[in-house]
Amino acid sequence: MRLSTHYCGLHLPHPLVVGASPMVDDLDVVRRLEDAGAAAIVMRSLFQEQIERESMATFGHMEDMAHAFGEALSFFPDTDDYKLGPQEYLDSLRKLKETVHIPVIASLNGTSPGGWLEYGKLMEEAGADALELNFYELPTDFDRSGAEIEEEALTVVRTLTDEVSIPISVKLSSAWSSLPHLAKGLVEAGAKGLVLFNRFYQADIDIDELEYIRHIQLSQPRELSSRLRAIAILYGRLDASLICTGGVHSVEDLVKAIMSGADAVQVVAAILSRGPEHLTRLRDGLQQWMEEREYATLEDLKGSMSLSHCPDPHALLRGNYAQLLQSWVADRGGFFV
Ligand SMILES: Cc1cc2nc3c(=O)[nH]c(=O)nc-3n(C[C@H](O)[C@H](O)[C@H](O)COP(=O)(O)O)c2cc1C
Repeated sequence: MRLSTHYCGLHLPHPLVVGASPMVDDLDVVRRLEDAGAAAIVMRSLFQEQIERESMATFGHMEDMAHAFGEALSFFPDTDDYKLGPQEYLDSLRKLKETVHIPVIASLNGTSPGGWLEYGKLMEEAGADALELNFYELPTDFDRSGAEIEEEALTVVRTLTDEVSIPISVKLSSAWSSLPHLAKGLVEAGAKGLVLFNRFYQADIDIDELEYIRHIQLSQPRELSSRLRAIAILYGRLDASLICTGGVHSVEDLVKAIMSGADAVQVVAAILSRGPEHLTRLRDGLQQWMEEREYATLEDLKGSMSLSHCPDPHALLRGNYAQLLQSWVADRGGFFV
């Protein structure tokens, strides 16, 4: 039984990776994650705004910056409120590399080209085995087209690819008008993997206090479905790894992700709520599930439920949607019976 897989050119013994999160802040937790069998670990993100702010402060240009960005600056954490400053991030990466033997993937989080991308090179020099570039983009400008935003994303990837020689993966949200087209462009620009999907945080309003409620709710398994569909569409058509993040909690979720075409999955919420040892349960559970059904390798399972052999995926998806709406039957006991 072989669970081995490829992750952006890295060879992993199995597909379970710890996704970007605060778990890497504590070296004891990191050791437990490695002992529990994590195949690789992704660091929390270093943010574009954080790097830019720090470099303005270093060169004494904070006043210029405050003038240029006005109120926008006040929406971001103060330099001291980030868990790790840019320099601390690199130190933490070096410590992680000394602590574990598994690949460590550093994470850069930003949306536009600029000097902040030099941190890719610094992360490589500090020992990162790969980089994950997180585009958490929520368009609000009525004058910027989707094409412009996509072009900017491609420029960021091209710049970073020129900067470093370690593999780069791109973590995307689901809200792009044509994910396959963007995915193809990102791979042509040099991305070796796509990490699908970023979660949008759960916007809510306190109707008495007239305030936005900002909090993180950990993911639920039902969030997996949008990832399965996207990975099933992309599988077999790109020269890049597909990595599923968001909603993988159980062995069944893991099997579904691989069947859709994921080369690997990233897990965060399930480990945060059940502890690092949950990784062992997932890996052993996957192995047992495959043995019982006589799968010899992960490759035999990978993509078996993808759309790679469907001659017209668009017609299939539209057809399924129309059929579902037409065949809905009210539950007994509901008001519409
Ligand atoms: C507390 C917390 C912190 C996170 N920090 C980051 C981060 O710094 N960078 C990033 O790309 N994703 C971050 N994520 C998102 C996760 O990497 C992951 O994509 C998301 O939680 C979905 O996976 P899950 O369903 O396994 O939790 C964070 C998630 C949580 C819960």
